[in-house]
Amino acid sequence: MIPLVVSDIQDDEIETVVALWQDCGLTRPWNNPYNDIAFARSQPNSTVLVARLEDGGPIVAAAMAGHDGHRGWTYYLSVAPDHQSAGLGKAMMKAVEEWHLAQGIWKSQLMVRTGNEKVISFYETLGYNVSATQLLERWIDSSKRGDV
Ligand SMILES: CC(C)(COP(=O)(O)OP(=O)(O)OC[C@H]1O[C@@H](n2cnc3c(N)ncnc32)[C@H](O)[C@@H]1OP(=O)(O)O)[C@@H](O)C(=O)NCCC(=O)NCCS
Repeated sequence: MIPLVVSDIQDDEIETVVALWQDCGLTRPWNNPYNDIAFARSQPNSTVLVARLEDGGPIVAAAMAGHDGHRGWTYYLSVAPDHQSAGLGKAMMKAVEEWHLAQGIWKSQLMVRTGNEKVISFYETLGYNVSATQLLERWIDSSKRGDV
């Protein structure tokens, strides 16, 4: 496993992480990434993790980790395009799982958007299974509604 230096995001790292998410195609018009980062940081059960290959080096991976009091969730997993396919995604997911375990969570879940099914093989390599459940959703604040 590639050793990563992982830490909670700091104020001066937000722009870099948003750019990383944009480079990785993870942002959507209805998800303002600045708001998403601020909200995750404001809650005790969520964070945004950033990873470097060495102390003080550039951020090469990031993910939002959280839990809902029952299951752990991962969002915005991203590896800098010029560092992909080198084991960093696997190491970053390990860091997220360790964060979940430290919170007392024993099952991690995540969602893969329609159109990004190619990453399912990546998660299967890490031991994730496609869940035999259906995800239902409703915009309970319709002012935030996006085209889904
Ligand atoms: C998905 C992503 C995080 C994977 O990170 P990565 O650093 O490229 O992946 P890794 O090098 O750690 O791969 C880990 C393992 O998964 C395998 N793998 C990676 N991508 C794969 C793919 N598309 N299909 C099959 N296996 C894959 C690797 O071969 C490796 O297997 P190994 O451990 O047996 O050698 C990265 O490609 C990324 O940032 N993509 C864009 C953003 C994105 O789609 N995020 C996921 C949102 S749900």
